[in-house]
Amino acid sequence: MNAYTSKGIVDTFNRHINYLRVSMTDRCNLSCRYCAPFRPELIKKEKVPTLEELYRLIEIGVSLGITKIRLTGGEPLCRKGTIDFIKRLRDLEGLKDITMTSNGTMVANYAEQLKEAGLSRINISLDTLDSNKFRRITGADLFSDVWEGLSAAVQCGLNPVKINMVVMKGFNDDEIEQMAELSIKFPFHIRFIEYMPIGTDLLSTQTSFMPVSEIEKRVARLGGLKPVASNNTDGPARRYRLEGGQGEIGFIGSMSSHFCSSCNRLRLTAAGYLRPCLLSDEQINLIEPMRRGLSDTEIKKLFILAAAKKKREHRLNFSNSRVLKTSMVSIGG
Ligand code: 5AD
Repeated sequence: MNAYTSKGIVDTFNRHINYLRVSMTDRCNLSCRYCAPFRPELIKKEKVPTLEELYRLIEIGVSLGITKIRLTGGEPLCRKGTIDFIKRLRDLEGLKDITMTSNGTMVANYAEQLKEAGLSRINISLDTLDSNKFRRITGADLFSDVWEGLSAAVQCGLNPVKINMVVMKGFNDDEIEQMAELSIKFPFHIRFIEYMPIGTDLLSTQTSFMPVSEIEKRVARLGGLKPVASNNTDGPARRYRLEGGQGEIGFIGSMSSHFCSSCNRLRLTAAGYLRPCLLSDEQINLIEPMRRGLSDTEIKKLFILAAAKKKREHRLNFSNSRVLKTSMVSIGG
């Protein structure tokens, strides 16, 4: 049974929920074809939780045993005040780890401040090493800014710096090997991510989808791919290292290999909803009841309810012809 125990929230399937991903904003200076393909309408400013409100929600989460926060977006650095917000979070007792997923375009400017503020490490999305292709995927000519961001992040100690590559067949799958090789020369952890049918049209996801089994074969062609012993903070990636590599390789197969049994997370969307599962449209509004004056105890109950709604496994697949209605840019990746 779902319950709040001395260990924190334990859900119906005995998963210990200690990780909250927080979307700081649905705004982003890129519009990647797999993330915001239809340029979804922006959430009205007055509906977006203020930083005070966000802090209160996170504080409540932490009081329930959340120990790790990841700030996502949109692009978290597009929200004014994100760095000071991290400083406040750093002082929250019980919170052990503050991380961020960013598009990297502004990281060169902020890496030092982020580290100083208390950010432990950063994941940066980068799907190609070709600047023309980068423009076609993201709509912006900012490849070199991301590249600078990556090295600034390493230099400032936001390590390990992880690179998220969403593999799209016929579009960037020819770069799989080259991306993997980056982990030899640089201390990057390259994570190959399966394209998920979220907020996009099913057909394009279906035709561009490449399972991790195939991606892994391509990487294995380079030779010397060895598994790395993983620990329970690894999350969904299966970890490997190429011979002589400073960094690592990871494979995240959300569609082909469920890792739901080890899911420890809840998500707070940019509009202030608590989402039990990335791959289900179900969510619980926190911001409205909070604005109506709910007490901390009552909001805690909503967190526990969200955990109770976590299913054993997500149901999203290509055969039931469904795509998620919400796009990644508003959920927070
Ligand atoms: N499929 C797979 N990954 C996606 N991301 C965004 N949209 C999708 C999608 N449709 C990834 C981004 C980002 C991470 C948080 O989620 O690459 O790095």
